[in-house]
Amino acid sequence: MIVAETERLTLRHASPDDAIAMRAVFCDPEVMRHGDGPQTDDWIQSWITRMNYNYNELGYGLWIVTQTIDALAIGYCGLTWFPNISGRPEIEVGYRLARTYWDKGYATEVAVAVRDLAFSHYELDRLIAIIEPDNLRSIRVAEKLGMQYDGDVLLDGYDHSDSVYACQR
Ligand SMILES: CC(C)(COP(=O)(O)OP(=O)(O)OC[C@H]1O[C@@H](n2cnc3c(N)ncnc32)[C@H](O)[C@@H]1OP(=O)(O)O)[C@@H](O)C(=O)NCCC(=O)NCCS
Repeated sequence: MIVAETERLTLRHASPDDAIAMRAVFCDPEVMRHGDGPQTDDWIQSWITRMNYNYNELGYGLWIVTQTIDALAIGYCGLTWFPNISGRPEIEVGYRLARTYWDKGYATEVAVAVRDLAFSHYELDRLIAIIEPDNLRSIRVAEKLGMQYDGDVLLDGYDHSDSVYACQR
């Protein structure tokens, strides 16, 4: 199911057929450096299952980003619910692309569409991004979404604080 279309990209639900293409995202140590590190094929399958559960139960999740011109799956972008970020529930915009597709303006293009969906379709008042302080590319994308630094958070299971960026509707 298609969720959004931009000038060059399409955002759609994840399906089990995406597992091989998503290896270029989830199994690349450089792409996963800011996060939980490279993952296995079984993990990718369970991620796809989890996302489909989220689409059904929450109405949103992380969606597959494809190049519209050739329908290649190149990464994900979407929304994740966090029950407790510094004492309040929050929804995060997240983005991650295979390395070949960096520096083309793709993450910004698709994240703008997700931000707009968050504020119009999902009627959120506030959207955050949780970013490691040295992930300068991701911070730049957040800034281009209109987000500003909003404090630090120590997530469960992490040994370092992340920066919270936020924007309002
Ligand atoms: C973060 C990520 C999604 C960005 O994707 P992208 O398509 O390259 O992003 P864009 O091209 O839209 O924008 C990147 C911006 O960062 C800038 N940039 C690139 N390298 C940079 C660096 N080393 N320092 C600062 N800014 C940098 C680019 O110049 C561009 O800004 P500009 O448009 O003002 O010139 C991609 O690098 C990625 O998947 N990284 C690994 C996963 C990840 O870290 N996800 C975010 C987790 S919070």
